[in-house]
Amino acid sequence: MKTKKRTLSKRIKHPVREMLLDRSGRNDLARLEKVIPRLKDSEASMEVCAALLRPAYRHYIDNVSNNFMAASLESSAFLYSMARTMQPKNIVDLGSGFSSLVLRKYAAEASNNPLVWSVDDHGGWLEKTAEFLQHMDSPSDNLLEWPDTTLIDDMKFDLIFHDMGNMNTRADALPWVTDHLSENGYVILDDMHKSDYRKKAMRHMQQEGIECYSLRALTHDYLGRFAVMAGPPKR
Ligand SMILES: C[S@@+](CC[C@H](N)C(=O)[O-])C[C@H]1O[C@@H](n2cnc3c(N)ncnc32)[C@H](O)[C@@H]1O
Repeated sequence: MKTKKRTLSKRIKHPVREMLLDRSGRNDLARLEKVIPRLKDSEASMEVCAALLRPAYRHYIDNVSNNFMAASLESSAFLYSMARTMQPKNIVDLGSGFSSLVLRKYAAEASNNPLVWSVDDHGGWLEKTAEFLQHMDSPSDNLLEWPDTTLIDDMKFDLIFHDMGNMNTRADALPWVTDHLSENGYVILDDMHKSDYRKKAMRHMQQEGIECYSLRALTHDYLGRFAVMAGPPKR
């Protein structure tokens, strides 16, 4: 993967922080693979998933959104690969867009008839998501505008992809996220390169007794972004 300007300048400005994040990323991946041995093949599986997603991703960032706002291809490939491995049944992405397609693509291929919902705090982006999903011949129902989640408030989710709105909205939505994880549910928190948000999210998970695993070793992209996986909720 190419190292581009932004990541390079961060590495020069904050070499120790970047080194520590890299190290915890490697340690956390080893920890995650111990807890969920099925994820051991993630790197190879993500290559396959990235190749399958690439044409739609290209279309999405060129015609619908852009590469700063869309989830990275790395996070998208992990999301797709992890879903194929863990076979979640009830799924929601908070922050609609390319991730909404990834999850519907998984659902269309899965044998356990998964149900996918997508939520966004911006009605205009929900409309763009609906148009994109239709363009990709994917179902465009089950789209909700945050904070009106009445239709899914009684549900618990096996997989939540949390990538919604600005970083304040995202932090404010964390209690909803952890309240809606199923017994064996996991959340993927995207954009955890943002240190203020990362601190708030990690503190929230710690207060809830939920284990966090940095996915930096798998999802670090050329903009310096990376995701963290957290779950399952404390019984
Ligand atoms: C990081 S984006 C969500 C990306 C989405 N999960 C995806 O995979 O494409 C966070 C929020 O930005 C908004 N958004 C998405 N694309 C945008 C764009 N190109 N310009 C402005 N806002 C955008 C949406 O309201 C979304 O909740």
